[in-house]
Amino acid sequence: MHVPRPLQTGSYEELYEHFGSPLAQQVRLEAYGKDIGQHSWVTAEELEENVPQLRLSGLGRLLDLGCGPCGPLTFVLGAVRCHGTGIDMSAHALAVGRDRAARQDCGGLLSVLRADLDNPLPLLSNTFDAVLALDVVLHVRDRARLVCEAARVLIPGGRFLFTDAGVITGAISAEEISRRAVHGLTQFAPQGFNERTLEAAGFRLIDRQDRTASLLKNAIGRLAARRAHRMELEQLEGAPQFERQQEYLETVIALSDRRALARILYVGESGAATRSGECYAG
Ligand SMILES: C[S@@+](CC[C@H](N)C(=O)[O-])C[C@H]1O[C@@H](n2cnc3c(N)ncnc32)[C@H](O)[C@@H]1O
Repeated sequence: MHVPRPLQTGSYEELYEHFGSPLAQQVRLEAYGKDIGQHSWVTAEELEENVPQLRLSGLGRLLDLGCGPCGPLTFVLGAVRCHGTGIDMSAHALAVGRDRAARQDCGGLLSVLRADLDNPLPLLSNTFDAVLALDVVLHVRDRARLVCEAARVLIPGGRFLFTDAGVITGAISAEEISRRAVHGLTQFAPQGFNERTLEAAGFRLIDRQDRTASLLKNAIGRLAARRAHRMELEQLEGAPQFERQQEYLETVIALSDRRALARILYVGESGAATRSGECYAG
C-alpha cells in the first residue's frame, strides 16, 4: 500500500530558508565562480554546454524535476526563452525560484508546482519537449517509476537530461553513507543501473558523461568558502547545521577523490509515446 509522505524535505527545507541571503549568494559565488542560484553540483559552464542537448526552441516546454530554487531552470529559460515548469517539494525553494525568475525577466515563462516526485506527476502525458532533473533522482524512492513518468510526459523524441551524484564506483563504508545522506532519503546505485532504467522506460541513451571531477572541484570550493565565512554561517544556520554541512562536504570530497562515488550525466531520447501506466509495472 502506498503511504503518502508529508510535504517536507527535512534538511533541504532548512537550507533553503537562507538561500537568497547575501551571505549564501557570496558563498555560491566563491564556490562555483558564478552564482546561478543552483543547489546542486551543476555550474553555469556545464549548463551552457547542456542547453543544446535539450533541443528546445522559444516555443518549447521544459519540465524540471526537483527544481529547488529554480536557479538552473531560470538559467535555461533565460537562454532559450521557452516555457518552463518546476516541480519541488519545498515551498520555500519555489518561492525563491519565482522571485529569481521575476528579477531575471523570466517570470512569465515560469510555472512552479509543489508536488512529491514519489507520486505520479500531476501533469498530462505528451506535454513537454524536454525534462531536466539535476542531482535529484538519488532522493526519489522509486527511480524506475519517476523515469517512466518522465517518458510519459515527454513528446516522442523528447530529451531527458539528468545527473546522479550517487553512482557507486568503489568501496564505501556505512559511516560514509550516513554522512553523505544528510539531505533526507538518499539511494546510491551501482554503475549501469541508470542506463538500464532509462532503457526499460523506452529511452535511447544518447550521451553519458562522468562529471565527478567537476563535482570534486565544486565541493572543495564550497567547503573552503563556507570555512571562510564560518562565523557568519554559524549565526545564520546554527553551529550544529554548520558542522553537519562541513562533514557532508568533507565526505563528498573523500568519496569523489578516491573514485568511490561518481556523478554521472545521462541524456536519453524518448521513443514512441508512453501511455500512463504502460511502462511501469512495479
Ligand atoms: C540537490 S537539490 C537540486 C535542486 C535543483 N535541481 C538545482 O540543481 O539547483 C534536490 C532537490 O530535490 C528536491 N526533492 C527531493 N526529494 C523530492 C521529492 N520526493 N519530491 C519533490 N522534490 C524532491 C529537494 O527539495 C531539492 O530541492
